[in-house]
Amino acid sequence: MNKISEILKQSINDLEDAVSPEEIDKIRIKYLGKKGVFTSELKKLAEIPKEKRPEFGQKINDAKTVFMDKLSSHSSEIENKLLNDKLNQKSIDVTLKGFRSETGGRHPISLVRAKIEKIFINSGYKIKTGPEIEDDYHNFTALNIPENHPAKAMHDTFYLGKDKLLRTHTSPVQIRSLLAEGAPIRIIAPGKVYRCDSDQTHTPMFHQIEGLVIGKDISFANLKSVLHEFVESFFERDVTLRFRPSYFPFTEPSAEVDILWDEEKWLEILGCGMVHPNVLSNAKIDPKIYSGYAFGMGIERLAMLYYGVKDLRTFFDNDLTFLRQFS
Ligand code: PHE
Repeated sequence: MNKISEILKQSINDLEDAVSPEEIDKIRIKYLGKKGVFTSELKKLAEIPKEKRPEFGQKINDAKTVFMDKLSSHSSEIENKLLNDKLNQKSIDVTLKGFRSETGGRHPISLVRAKIEKIFINSGYKIKTGPEIEDDYHNFTALNIPENHPAKAMHDTFYLGKDKLLRTHTSPVQIRSLLAEGAPIRIIAPGKVYRCDSDQTHTPMFHQIEGLVIGKDISFANLKSVLHEFVESFFERDVTLRFRPSYFPFTEPSAEVDILWDEEKWLEILGCGMVHPNVLSNAKIDPKIYSGYAFGMGIERLAMLYYGVKDLRTFFDNDLTFLRQFS
């Protein structure tokens, strides 16, 4: 019994000498660990006479409880002291910058796309979408681009097996929308398109907006005025346009539209034309009754001009310093 009192006294002394959490931990192991002093005393119970065991066991457990209470009170004392020392030593600089959680912003391409959509929605156009994985028929054949036609080779198509491909333009939405809804129709179709091409002005994926208007008595003059009005709303100023004769298999006549930039150079911004009768027939529309126009423009191209961005690829680098300028 005396030995237990001695052990308890010693353990309390040890604790009182401890000044760090590490020392406290060592003492805890010394007394309570698997081979600790209290633990070994409990093991020795087996060696003493049976009738003395309960009393002896009680004594050890009581001592252990006293030790454990002291252990926890002393270790919180030490922690408090360490914390106070730290606070007294270091002053807190309340002028230091805090951490702010950052908010995101819309991507410039999304902003420009939304701006374009809004202009056309305000003129009564509906938004349509089509699949990015297309088949040869909708991407080419139905658009009057037959097999072995040079225009097909110019598209730098990503093929996915035999008949599947990544659409090279948004024009297949013309066919899909006409087949689904018939005429008259007035739609724009924004979305991703893909071409196997990569340099300062080409990325393998980019965005286009297709426009299609089919009705009775629709003329090239309508197309000219719609595009002129669109371009001026988009750039929010007067813009000089030039319709330059061009060729697309799915429009006849066809034109590319240039805008006069900085009063000195012509920049191409879109392709357009009157929808080819073959395209209307392929889409089950009678070309003797209906006519209309279509146009297609690159969203990145408009975004580069609108924001003054020189390299198309910066839109896809995801460099935050670049992107933050738009949020
Ligand atoms: N699809 C053409 C392209 O990607 C653009 C276009 C669309 C031209 C509609 C005329 C009519 O270049």
